[in-house]
Amino acid sequence: MASRTIMERKEPALSIEKDPDVLGAATRMAGEDLCSIADLSSGEVRALMKLGHDVKRNPREYSHALDARQMVLMFEKASLRTRLAFEAGINTMGGNAIFVDQTNSPLGERETIADVARNLERWVDVIVLRTYAHDTITEMAANSRVPVVNALSDVEHPCQALADFMTLEEHFGSAVGLNFTYVGDGNNVCHSLMLTGAQLGANVTVATPRAYSPKAEIVAAAREIAGRNHGELRLMQDARAAVEGADAVYTDVCVSMGFEHESTKRAPIFRPYQVNETLMSKASPTAVFMHCLPARRGEEVTDAVIDSPQSIVFDQAENRLHVQKALLLLLLGGFVNVEKFQ
Ligand code: CP
Ligand code: NVA
Repeated sequence: MASRTIMERKEPALSIEKDPDVLGAATRMAGEDLCSIADLSSGEVRALMKLGHDVKRNPREYSHALDARQMVLMFEKASLRTRLAFEAGINTMGGNAIFVDQTNSPLGERETIADVARNLERWVDVIVLRTYAHDTITEMAANSRVPVVNALSDVEHPCQALADFMTLEEHFGSAVGLNFTYVGDGNNVCHSLMLTGAQLGANVTVATPRAYSPKAEIVAAAREIAGRNHGELRLMQDARAAVEGADAVYTDVCVSMGFEHESTKRAPIFRPYQVNETLMSKASPTAVFMHCLPARRGEEVTDAVIDSPQSIVFDQAENRLHVQKALLLLLLGGFVNVEKFQ
């Protein structure tokens, strides 16, 4: 595989306010939900990338874009990055966040999810959910007139994958034709990465233990999207073969939230998938190491890799803020209200 050299990210040929991807996304996405990366077109994923880069470069231009908008975050699982990036994101654009801890009270238990949605839409402009069941998110979306955002479910973690590909664009200039390898559990993060890579025309390789491969329907969707964008999706079990010549090597925990009872069973199965210096040495010499965090140091990744100069894990974490701001701007129609676009 030809490897990628590090280069400056090219400025978009057109200014952000005239970019057809961004203008198309601003029109189509306003008022919509983000349950899955597959809800988006390739142009909308590109728009999120472009707006994310612009928000990062020019945060002050957006400081009143969402004045007085209310966001509720209802989380059934723990969070550092997702919660803080959404809260800081809306606060720095003039809006407000209300956090509801659902860790001891799963959504749908006290009253139906549909009834929760019919209440929330009367008070807030956007609903951000972190759940066990993906259906909780789609059910809330089906019953709410305001946008619903998936902040992680058992099937997908779209906000993570958007930030990750924004980080790859920063580092390599573009994700088109990039050799991106994911090693580990075929989980929520893996699913959203496959779909986002496909939307942006990357060559995605996924190596998992056979019993932990990604869901067949998401693989099929990602292959179909990749085909349209001249990208590729390869699945395998051999971590070394998957990493050979890769530009980016990504892993996640072997035991996701909700699967803690499987820890002992999973540990030996995932041992050959640990990203250590030996595995990283198979990748391109200019390869980056990526992880959504939190990491279980010494399990799926060693300190030597996650703390190495190749590691861009904290850039990924930072870009959660910028890309989630871009997402809120598009879903809440804030993009068109920004002063420089009037
Ligand atoms: N990567 C990620 O979503 O982190 P949190 O679980 O801390 O939100
Ligand atoms: N796959 C992990 C991601 C955490 C951000 C989990 O679901 O727990």
